[in-house]
Amino acid sequence: MKVAVFNTHKFEKDFLIRANDGRYELKLLDFFLGIDTPELALGCEAISIFTQDQATAEVLDKLKAIGVKYIALRCAGYNNVDIQHARQLGIRVVRVPDYSPNAIAEFTVAIILALNRKLIRSHYRIMEMNFSLDGLVGFDMNGKTVGIIGTGKIGRIVAKILHGFGCKIIAYDLVRNQEIIDAYEVKYTELDTLYKEADIITLHAPLTKLTQYMIYAKTIAIMKKGVMLINTGRGGLVQTQDVITALKSGQIGYFGLDVYEEEKGLFFEDHSEDILLDDTIARLMTLRNVMITSHQAFLTDTALKNIAKTTIENLECLEKGLPCENEVV
Ligand code: NAI
Repeated sequence: MKVAVFNTHKFEKDFLIRANDGRYELKLLDFFLGIDTPELALGCEAISIFTQDQATAEVLDKLKAIGVKYIALRCAGYNNVDIQHARQLGIRVVRVPDYSPNAIAEFTVAIILALNRKLIRSHYRIMEMNFSLDGLVGFDMNGKTVGIIGTGKIGRIVAKILHGFGCKIIAYDLVRNQEIIDAYEVKYTELDTLYKEADIITLHAPLTKLTQYMIYAKTIAIMKKGVMLINTGRGGLVQTQDVITALKSGQIGYFGLDVYEEEKGLFFEDHSEDILLDDTIARLMTLRNVMITSHQAFLTDTALKNIAKTTIENLECLEKGLPCENEVV
């Protein structure tokens, strides 16, 4: 079977080639899947895509017309695929639901610590021979209240790590997880209570109609003044302009983001030769209490190995016409 792998990044190529071990003819493409690129999959029964590719109804129609039967997502989220339309066309869609929640949880804590202890700023100071400590005062994590929104695979590991720091963990989720209540003394609360009580709020819920823009002017207003907000979930959970307003007033004291609602076409790419046209991220980049990373939380060798392995296993299931536990239905 021939597989068009859209949007292949340098960092994942070797992992994919190794996991495939010659089984499929992989056509590794640098291009995104979008309205102008489905034809690149001509002659392929399957395609593989990543978070920033767009499999809209129109794109799916084009893929179907050239004989594509399967889509293997190399990520967990599938909000970039019109699943209902794929189903109507008989295109089967599989994903990698679980590749390393530890990677994302650990990165979340890394952002919290880097922002709190001003590590990036202090590093740059040293590079300039400035060994002063003024302006670098942080806070003890021990005893702080952390609000975790979404206690699924990632959120519960964040709870475990931060419990180790001596933080008091409060959480909000549609489903309560008894294990983390027992093991890490997590206290589930109403969302408003979490907003009111947390010193640090970290987002680990999926982007849905319910969660879109859950962080906006009204919810920010009830948070503790100077709260730290961390988003390694999805950009759309946050109304970025409202967060900027709150950062300017000091209502939000720190903002760490690994995801951004306008990240498509920006994150994952080298734009160092370009003129930055996005005024929102440009404003965020000027603020010292903001830390931006480029959707990097998942990026560990363990995660990349698991993504590649599961993607190839998913393709095998599809090719053999077998039911696949990772199928999106
Ligand atoms: P998961 O499915 O294991 O957990 C999500 C949790 O959110 C579940 O417990 C669910 O009940 C809860 N939830 C759903 N709707 C909610 C709502 N309206 N309010 C509160 N909680 C709600 O997913 P996992 O693996 O923990 O991933 C969480 C999110 O992290 C993903 O949806 C994805 O957006 C993001 N992610 C980010 C990555 C990165 O590199 N920055 C990589 C992988 C995932």
